[in-house]
Amino acid sequence: MEVRELLYEGKAKRVYTTDDPQYLVVAYKDDATAFNGQKKGTISGKGIVNNRMSNLLMARLEREGVPTHLVRELNDRETLVRRVAIVPLEVIVRNAAAGSFSRRYGVEEGVVFAAPTLEFSYKNDELGDPLLNDDHIVALKLAAPEELAAIRRYALTVNRLLQELWKGCGVTLVDFKLEFGRLADGTIVLADEISPDTCRLWDAKTGEKLDKDRFRQDLGGVEEAYSRVMERLTGLIQGEEGM
Ligand code: TMP
Ligand code: ASP
Repeated sequence: MEVRELLYEGKAKRVYTTDDPQYLVVAYKDDATAFNGQKKGTISGKGIVNNRMSNLLMARLEREGVPTHLVRELNDRETLVRRVAIVPLEVIVRNAAAGSFSRRYGVEEGVVFAAPTLEFSYKNDELGDPLLNDDHIVALKLAAPEELAAIRRYALTVNRLLQELWKGCGVTLVDFKLEFGRLADGTIVLADEISPDTCRLWDAKTGEKLDKDRFRQDLGGVEEAYSRVMERLTGLIQGEEGM
C-alpha cells in the first residue's frame, strides 16, 4: 500500500490517502491538547502507545462482533484503516462520574452509576462540542434513527467488553469516547482510536489516574502513566496467549 498525500491533520493524528481509495493511513503524533485546544503540549511516546493500544483493543472488539475501521498496524505509529466518513458525534460512555459530568451536575468523581450512561456531543470545535440528545442528532441530520440505534448498541457492547478486559488488568474503565464512521456502502463501523487519550483508566486498587487527565490536570508522570497502562494490557494479552 503506497501512501499518497496528507488528507487531514487533527490534534493527535495525521491521516493520509493511499493508492487505494478504500483505505487510509493514520499516523499518531505525540502532540496533546485539552480544553478544545486551549492547552497544548507533548507527551513523549504517546503516539506509539495509542497506536498499539487502539489496535489491540479494536482487534479484540472486531473478534467479538463489533465492526471497526482497523485493517492492520504498519509500524510503531502508523495503521492502515478502512476509509470512512466520520459521523460527527462524540459518543461517550460513562460508568462513574468524572470530568465534565462531575462539573456539569456537581457530582463527586468516582460515584459509580447503576447502569452505563451514554452521552453524545456534536463534534464541532467552533461550537465547543455541545451536548446533544437523540432528537437533536436526528433533527441536525447527524445520524439517521437506525444509525443512532446501531451506534448506541455498539457503544454499550464496547463498554461491556472493555470493562471486562481492563478489570483483568487491575484497571477501572471510568468512561471513554468513541467515534463511528460510515463505509462507502453506509455500514456503521467503529473508527478513530481507543487509548489513554480517549478513556479514563484508574488503577483499580489505588484509584490512581493512568490516562490523559494527568496531562489535563497537570498531575505529572504523564508518560509513565501511558507506558504503565500499556504494560498492564500487553501483560494480560501475553498471559492469555501463553495459556
Ligand atoms: P469529559 O468528562 O471531559 O466529557 O470526557 C469524557 C471522556 O471522553 C473521557 O474519557 C475523555 C474523553 N474525551 C475525548 O476523548 N475527547 C475529548 O475531546 C473530550 C472532551 C473527552
Ligand atoms: N483533545 C481535546 C481538545 O483539545 C480535549 C481533551 O481530550 O480533553 O479539545
